[in-house]
Amino acid sequence: MIKAAPEWHKSFFKNSFYNPASETAVAKAPAEAAFVLKQLKLKKGSALLDLCCGPGRHAVEFASRGLAVTGYDFSREYLAEAAARAQKKRVALRLLRGDMRELKFSGEFDAVVNMFTSFGYFPRLSDDIKTLKGIARALKPGGLFLIDVVNGDFIMSRFVPRDWHDLGDHYLLETREPDRDGIFNTWVKIDKRSGRIQEKTFFNRIYGRATLTAALRRAGLKPLKFWGGFRGEKLSDGSIRLICLAKKL
Ligand SMILES: C[S@@+](CC[C@H](N)C(=O)[O-])C[C@H]1O[C@@H](n2cnc3c(N)ncnc32)[C@H](O)[C@@H]1O
Repeated sequence: MIKAAPEWHKSFFKNSFYNPASETAVAKAPAEAAFVLKQLKLKKGSALLDLCCGPGRHAVEFASRGLAVTGYDFSREYLAEAAARAQKKRVALRLLRGDMRELKFSGEFDAVVNMFTSFGYFPRLSDDIKTLKGIARALKPGGLFLIDVVNGDFIMSRFVPRDWHDLGDHYLLETREPDRDGIFNTWVKIDKRSGRIQEKTFFNRIYGRATLTAALRRAGLKPLKFWGGFRGEKLSDGSIRLICLAKKL
C-alpha cells in the first residue's frame, strides 16, 4: 500500500528530483499562456497572480504581453529560475515565496491562474478550500480565476496502475494507487548515465468537473466555463486536462 507524507510537496519540488520546466513544457508555455489570456480578456497593466508559478514559464509569457505579474511559489530554487528567465526575456516579475494555503493578499488582483496541476496536494480537503478562499480574497470584486488540472474524470475512468516513460536523460516508472478522494503515486526515476535511482511518493486529490465546481463554490468562486485542453477543446471524460474559468462572486 502506497502512502505519502502529509507535506510530501516540501521534498518533491526540488531540482535534484523534478523541475516542471522541462524542454517540452517550456515549449508549450507560449500557446498555453495565449489561450489563458484570451479567456481572461485583461487590459494591459492588469494585475495577475500566477499561483504556484514554479520556474515561471507562464509568468514570463504573461508579463511579455503587458500584464503586471506576481509569481508566487514556495520553492526558492524555482523562484530563482523564474527570476533568471524574466531577466533573459527582459520582463519584470514580482516574485514572492510562500505557501499556497497562506495567501495574504486582499482585493489586489484582476485575475489569478493556477497551472499544470498545482493543486490538490494536501491530504485534508480543508487545505484545498483554504487555498481557494485565499484566491477569492486576493481577487478584486468580479475578478477571474483560471485553474488547469489533470482531469480526474479521465484518470478515474481509465485508471492505469503502472506505466513508464523514457524522458530523455532518465526513465520514469509511475505506480498509482487510488484512494477515496485521490491517487497515491510513486515515481521511480532512473538516471540513464549514472544509473542513480530516486524514489518519491506523492498524493494528488483528483478533481473532476463536479468536485471542482463544489470546491470553487465553497470558496465563493463561480465556475463560468470549462475546457478539456488549451486549444479550447470541449471537456469530456476523455479529456486529459480540466481547465476551468471561475469568477469571484
Ligand atoms: C507541477 S508544478 C507547476 C509549476 C508551474 N505552474 C508550471 O506550470 O510550470 C507545481 C508547483 O507548485 C509549487 N508548490 C507545491 N506545493 C506548494 C505550496 N504548498 N505552496 C506554494 N507552492 C507550492 C511547486 O514548487 C511547483 O512550482
